[in-house]
Amino acid sequence: ESEVPSFTASKVSQYSCQRKTTLNNFNKKFTDAFEIMAENYEFKENEMFCLEFLRAASVLKCLPFPVVRMKDIQGLPCMGDQVRDIVEEIIEEGESSRAKDVLNDERYKSFKQFTSVFGVGVKTSEKWYRMGLRTLEEVKAEKTLKLSKMQRVGLLYYEDLVSCVSKAEADAVGLIVKKTVRTFLPDALITLTGGFRRGKKIGHDIDFLITNPGPREDDDLLHKGLLLYCDIIESTFVKDQLPSRKVDAMDNFQKCFAILKLYQPRVDNRSYNASKEFDMAEVKDWKAIRVDLVICPFEQYAYALLGWTGSRQFGRDLRRFANHEKKMILDNHALYDKRKRIFLKAGSEEEIFAHLGLDYVEPWERNA
Ligand code: CTP
Ligand code: MN
Ligand code: MN
Ligand code: MN
Repeated sequence: ESEVPSFTASKVSQYSCQRKTTLNNFNKKFTDAFEIMAENYEFKENEMFCLEFLRAASVLKCLPFPVVRMKDIQGLPCMGDQVRDIVEEIIEEGESSRAKDVLNDERYKSFKQFTSVFGVGVKTSEKWYRMGLRTLEEVKAEKTLKLSKMQRVGLLYYEDLVSCVSKAEADAVGLIVKKTVRTFLPDALITLTGGFRRGKKIGHDIDFLITNPGPREDDDLLHKGLLLYCDIIESTFVKDQLPSRKVDAMDNFQKCFAILKLYQPRVDNRSYNASKEFDMAEVKDWKAIRVDLVICPFEQYAYALLGWTGSRQFGRDLRRFANHEKKMILDNHALYDKRKRIFLKAGSEEEIFAHLGLDYVEPWERNA
């Protein structure tokens, strides 16, 4: 009987902010199945079942060993009946028939395609599906559709945008963003957040948090024309507003969901098609890349950094923990103590964890 020493299932917290979750996932075959189930429930707008599977996936991601028998998940939090049935089937059959059914489901397949377009969410997908549309080809051919500007560019740069962003590309874009921002704000602090800050090697976009030490942020920064496509959302933050109680609430920072044109050295294949007329203009030497730029006031920087570093599940659990265990409300702007009726200031992520009575969790351990 071999037991993994120093591991006690009953000591695993139900909150991912009390666990360490690196990218080293021993239980991918289970967590992939859970994430497919969760996504299908998200498409059906069943938030409860969606979260149930996301929480289960997140618990298995933190285990220091692969699950090989039912006994391995005994005593773990978030293992409901639906979840256990799937674990059991994967242990016995090597795969989940329920997850496989979802992957073959017509509605799921259509929603998966539709939501892969920048600017298209569950609501739009639902509308298109109800119109009888099933594929992106059909969407593009349907001339009567009124697409938003975001959706039009989403389709225009579709191939580039679905191909993942590498860490090297993130670093290249980082240099451009830093250089550009500093021509306007020489002292600005520009931090790579999102998945790349958690150590991921690929991502679907690049997230940056920008702040300027000093009296005020620069409201004009995003309006200075450095982008291919940019949907600027103005700040709606009001001084001293209470943090939002919603689990997945949008913050009120000025931000922009942009598409950047990243020039890349192209592979020169002149000698291989010598017969073809060579035309520089024909060769696309750039890639469209999704970039999120968030501008925050300097005194909110730590909260914004914590929120935008993610993962999404880690953030959800931080808020749930704050609310249920500490009677505090946390969002990307602030932390409010409901009992003392005060805002808790923080200059670093470490201080926020300390306010919450949590051990510090490093960014690369937040891959919940
Ligand atoms: N986020 C947020 N408010 C938003 C959008 C995102 O607080 N309006 C947070 C998310 O909760 C997430 C982080 O910002 O934790 C980054 O979001 P996103 O880019 O969607 O995810 P990543 O973890 O970076 O993964 P990916 O590679 O898919 O981009
Ligand atoms: Mn991201
Ligand atoms: Mn994402
Ligand atoms: Mn993002």
